[in-house]
Amino acid sequence: MIRDQKTSAAEWVPRTHDLIKLRLAAAACRGCELYQHATQVVFGDGPKDAKVVMVGEQPGDEEDRKGHPFVGPAGRLLSKAMHEAGLDREKIYVTNAVKHFKFLERGKRRIHAKPNGIEISACRPWLEAELASIEPELVVCLGATAAQSLMGSSFRITKDRGNFFPHRWAKQLVATVHPSAILRLPERYEEEYGLFLRDLRLIAARVKELELAS
Ligand code: URA
Ligand code: SF4
Repeated sequence: MIRDQKTSAAEWVPRTHDLIKLRLAAAACRGCELYQHATQVVFGDGPKDAKVVMVGEQPGDEEDRKGHPFVGPAGRLLSKAMHEAGLDREKIYVTNAVKHFKFLERGKRRIHAKPNGIEISACRPWLEAELASIEPELVVCLGATAAQSLMGSSFRITKDRGNFFPHRWAKQLVATVHPSAILRLPERYEEEYGLFLRDLRLIAARVKELELAS
């Protein structure tokens, strides 16, 4: 048989809305090349009845080792900001646009490498399956990779952060910066963290509105 060479997770994604089955199936995904060097797949985490889904870029070094999203430095900053904004992380489903860690080896260190458009598209069927299973009121894109996956490559966080859009896989979508971007700018930390917190407070207010309306 001649195999379809298209780079996509589609053939590994079972037709189910059962998140446990999806998670198990994702471990076998060979939809792009990123599974080859990563320790394990890092699937989304959180309740099936979550009203809000947060989407990051891809697992980092610590996530790759532990098998859970946002458990490293960026995740700790995200948890702190969510707590300050009044968002309960326990009630939110957290995932990534790309499910395997992409990195460059520098001696003993593994340095984050940005996923490209082919990898983001290849992995989108998993994100679509997660969103189809949860049917959230609101999807929050953390950074440009998540926004590119869900809004297309012309979307600009700088222009549209904090604005709410309709979306086919959720009632609404909003984007803000990635917490790693704040950690990468120590000299501007206070300002960038303040803007991030402002976005998360807008999100917390919108979540309350959506809950009242439903
Ligand atoms: N950055 C991400 O985008 N996702 C994670 O899970 C961790 C760091
Ligand atoms: Fe599959 Fe996504 Fe991993 Fe690529 S990154 S192998 S598409 S799960």
